[in-house]
Amino acid sequence: MTAENREAYRGGKKIFEISGVCFGYKKKEVLSNVSLDVADGESLGIVGESGSGKTTLLFLLLRLAKARQGSISFYGQPLAEMTGKGLRNFRTRVQPVFQDPFLSLDPAQKVEGIIGEPLISLRLIKTGKEKKERILRALENVGLGEDAMGRRPEEFSGGQRQRIAIARALVTNPEVLIADEAVSALDIITKIEILTLLHELKERGNFTLIFVSHDLPAVADISERIVVVDRGEIIEDAPARRVLRAPVHPQTRLLVESRLTLDGSR
Ligand SMILES: Nc1ncnc2c1ncn2[C@@H]1O[C@H](COP(=O)(O)OP(=O)(O)OP(=O)(O)O)[C@@H](O)[C@H]1O
Ligand SMILES: [Mg+2]
Repeated sequence: MTAENREAYRGGKKIFEISGVCFGYKKKEVLSNVSLDVADGESLGIVGESGSGKTTLLFLLLRLAKARQGSISFYGQPLAEMTGKGLRNFRTRVQPVFQDPFLSLDPAQKVEGIIGEPLISLRLIKTGKEKKERILRALENVGLGEDAMGRRPEEFSGGQRQRIAIARALVTNPEVLIADEAVSALDIITKIEILTLLHELKERGNFTLIFVSHDLPAVADISERIVVVDRGEIIEDAPARRVLRAPVHPQTRLLVESRLTLDGSR
């Protein structure tokens, strides 16, 4: 580990340890020999071009896919060995927020059912009262009120739907929030609102945030440390300000330049 990376870890305990991970579809190699540690409380941005393997890496971290080679552990426990109660515990502690709020929320369900779903499937509540209280708290955390409970996703704007998706993730009181392109489907103003919300929630809730995007400006605003994935490999891993000021890899330089053209400043 370099001195700079050690600084970026902020002395936190390792949550995820990813070592030599390979993954592919049939003969197509998507991730090759990926190693990465994620520390407690950090804000980690993962960037890379479309198709570089970011979502695949997150699927492995969320145990929605299994690595072909290598290992991923959560507080020292291999994900591959988790079953039953242990897996439910992992899913309670590590929650995802996906890209498209139009697709990730079940249109047939009311918000109460959508946000309450993890509480039921992960067996986190005993009574209806407890469920309602937790849903209300989650809604409040994302700036929505009780009136949202009985409405369906179609009645909300894109930004509000993403707030609902974040509330659904937060309702389990996770230690790690993994957001995949969570603001990519939103217009610029809404994007800033949601990024600000995520930042505030992270500061208040003190959870670890893994934020994935092909959009470096969005990642740079919210991350202390940035990992760059290129064609299935990690090509850069350093504090965000170093990646922005002095990108080492040409591919990272391209991503930084796209930031310059978008907001006109560094
Ligand atoms: N189900 C699948 N079957 C075969 N190949 C797949 C499948 N899903 C993804 N891939 C391939 O894996 C590679 C990595 O895809 P992945 O979705 O992880 O990229 P990404 O970095 O998240 O891209 P984006 O920024 O567009 O979301 C791509 O080449 C993609 O075509
Ligand atoms: Mg993706």
